[in-house]
Amino acid sequence: MVAQVIAVEPFDLVVFGATGDLAIRKLIPALYHRDADGQIPAEATITGVSRRNLSSEAFRAMAREAIGTHVGASDHEAAAIERFLARISYIPVNATGEEGWAELAAHFADTKRILVCYLSTGPDLFVPICERLGACGLAAKARLVVEKPIGKNLDSARAVNDAIGRHFPESRVYRIDHYLGKETVQNLMALRFANALFEPVWNAAHIDHVQITVAETLGVEGRAGYYDTAGALRDMVQNHILQLLCLVAMEPPPTLAADAVRDEKLKVLQALAPITPENVRDSAVRGQYRAGASASGAVPGYLEELGNPDSHTETFVALRAEIANWRWAGVPFYLRTGKRLPSRVSEIVVAFRPIPHSVFDKSAGPVRSNRLVIRLQPDEGVKLWLMIKDPGPGGMRLRRVPLDMSFAETFAVRNPDAYERLLMDVVRGNQTLFMRRDEVEAAWSWVEPILQFWASTDDAPRAYTAGTWGPTASVAMIAKDRRTWHEEMV
Ligand code: BG6
Repeated sequence: MVAQVIAVEPFDLVVFGATGDLAIRKLIPALYHRDADGQIPAEATITGVSRRNLSSEAFRAMAREAIGTHVGASDHEAAAIERFLARISYIPVNATGEEGWAELAAHFADTKRILVCYLSTGPDLFVPICERLGACGLAAKARLVVEKPIGKNLDSARAVNDAIGRHFPESRVYRIDHYLGKETVQNLMALRFANALFEPVWNAAHIDHVQITVAETLGVEGRAGYYDTAGALRDMVQNHILQLLCLVAMEPPPTLAADAVRDEKLKVLQALAPITPENVRDSAVRGQYRAGASASGAVPGYLEELGNPDSHTETFVALRAEIANWRWAGVPFYLRTGKRLPSRVSEIVVAFRPIPHSVFDKSAGPVRSNRLVIRLQPDEGVKLWLMIKDPGPGGMRLRRVPLDMSFAETFAVRNPDAYERLLMDVVRGNQTLFMRRDEVEAAWSWVEPILQFWASTDDAPRAYTAGTWGPTASVAMIAKDRRTWHEEMV
């Protein structure tokens, strides 16, 4: 099957932090794929910007290497690579000083194309770059793309958003949460709003609880410096996991227009029951990995990787959230994420309530509840677990089996990386999959009391061995509600 490609308008994309990890691993490969598929018009340009004093030639060589390393060999097409590289140039600019800004402004002064400034830099540079973009005149016409994290807490997020807002109207600001660009995340919207089947049962009367797990096998790799100032709650929950929760829990928006969707997500965030110092111990577990094993062999613990034996930064978090509104009252949302877990898996499990009465004999076996499992990665797909009669003669025996829609098998197309869609959405001017200022701040308002509580106690995060599913306290937290974390059922 061939995916449908609609070319976007001509654009000039300026990537700040162009020699950094995100640009090399994600942005350049994503742009190459869109170009190779014919989505990027001939006149479009890509300009790398960073403090390093490189020539355009040298930056093109880096881009070539990025494609070589981060694009699958089957997608290397010599002509497409040359065409892509020909769009690329480089301008050295000092984000916090004067150097380079005049050249940058002059370069784009007369462009009639859509101008996009992508801040793929450390968060400490967001404000200085916005100020300079304002001062040099580019902010007056550019769209601004910012990565997470926006701030470290509510106050600092407001300060960053205020600084952005001084130079860019909200209608030109694109706050990236790359989880929203993942194919299956969008499928969640298709599932909920393109099928009449689910909406009548999508509420507390029929859903027992929801689980959202984002598990990683990797440790903090080379990012310990950043990670130690963040931790799993800030790094994954405040943004990615709460966004997933919003998409599961929001009311059907009237349309997919950006503000229609974002208004509904905001209401969910505002309805999250606060986690307070009184209930935080029952509703939040934080963990930190110790030396153990991963698929590649023995791995050191977080503190050794960091080189600081005193860090209390969590590399795992499990939360029990509740949404205080009519649709979801009393339905727990269990959220969990961590580094150095046994497998890389992200999924949303919607667990339905048990049947009210069984007509079957004991010999039929237990009647287990239905579950809808939306797998984000790997093996994207949706499974609906149903009870059926065990086939064949003999008595009535029941079994739970999945209606299994594995997207890789069903649709033989390459699954695009989230950044491919999101970058093209910026050019299209579609903000639906980007976070609005008030969403970011509402998410901080909910996580902040947890952060403050942790900061105020001397308790260390609970230890877990690398390669296990986090501290036992996470199992105990859900077990207290007589439930268990989802494992693939047979
Ligand atoms: C990033 C986090 O936002 O998401 C990383 O900062 C994390 O710590 C990553 O590893 C996970 O993204 P993905 O797409 O690999 O699931």
